[in-house]
Amino acid sequence: MPRPNRVAVMHGPNLDQLGRRDPEHYGDLNLRGLERQIESWAHEVNLSTTFLQTNHEGEFIEFLHRAPELSDALIVNAGAWSHYSWAIRDAIEFSELPAVEVHLSDVSKREDFRKVSVFDGLMLEKIFGEKEQGYKRALDLIAAHLEKD
Ligand code: DQA
Repeated sequence: MPRPNRVAVMHGPNLDQLGRRDPEHYGDLNLRGLERQIESWAHEVNLSTTFLQTNHEGEFIEFLHRAPELSDALIVNAGAWSHYSWAIRDAIEFSELPAVEVHLSDVSKREDFRKVSVFDGLMLEKIFGEKEQGYKRALDLIAAHLEKD
């Protein structure tokens, strides 16, 4: 087996509160359960994982500054920042890492402000409305993408 490719899985604000948030939108797992599930799916496709969750935009951005040294790809659920943080978009862009945007909920069927993503055009794919299964698809996409290189 070659060295596993490394994926950083980044969660933004309020995602530490999964388990308390509406399960209709977000599913039943808390963040720890979600991260465990992601780690096990990643293992199946020979990816290793690093996790970050923060409620602080600067910390999220500074992690992105370091990301090229630590990882080969990103999975980003930036929560509400996805809808307005041009600073995070810039940091993802100049990381030059392949990235997939994931939302647990179906952002296309909720309030108008959630339909907008500042990451449009930057990501390999935007996955939403599949709850935790969306991360499995993101991992499969990233594994296939990195294998091509
Ligand atoms: C979310 C969707 C966002 O609109 C929301 O602000 C979140 C979570 C999701 O995973 O569905 O915090 O990114």
